[in-house]
Amino acid sequence: MTATIAETTTSRRNFLANGIKAIAGFFILALGIPLTGFTISSALKKDKHDWIEAAELGDLSDDKPTRITYHYRRKDGWMTTESRKTAFVVKEGNDAYTVFASRCTHLGCGLDWDATTNQFKCPCHGGVFDAHGNVVEGPPPRPLVKLGCKIEGRKLFVMEA
Ligand code: FES
Repeated sequence: MTATIAETTTSRRNFLANGIKAIAGFFILALGIPLTGFTISSALKKDKHDWIEAAELGDLSDDKPTRITYHYRRKDGWMTTESRKTAFVVKEGNDAYTVFASRCTHLGCGLDWDATTNQFKCPCHGGVFDAHGNVVEGPPPRPLVKLGCKIEGRKLFVMEA
């Protein structure tokens, strides 16, 4: 049995077409898989919480909350933003500290420490918190937010909520 010229040409065309498809498929997979993986992993990457150096222990008061300021860098997907944060550090004992976010739990106004009453006061709607962050009066629905903290050497580190 002999192949006709038309069958041979068709067969050669099919062979070349399949070869080109195979090469194109190889390049699509070789480039597409890593690119897709990079795109998805960057988009799904959650904010990674790191310890932030916030204060020297020697700068913290023993008998009243100390307002501290630190810089917080947040990475969310491809975006990295840096913001300045404030918090209050309350000394609870020997190298034991509690760190409160300095924002009112009502609508987020900045709090002040009132040394005459030993309370945190919110200037916006009259919210008042005791030195342990509990609501004393006003509209705040819950206690102050506590931030994670740890001591390393003579430095205080905080972790954003
Ligand atoms: S924001 Fe503090 S009481 Fe409303």
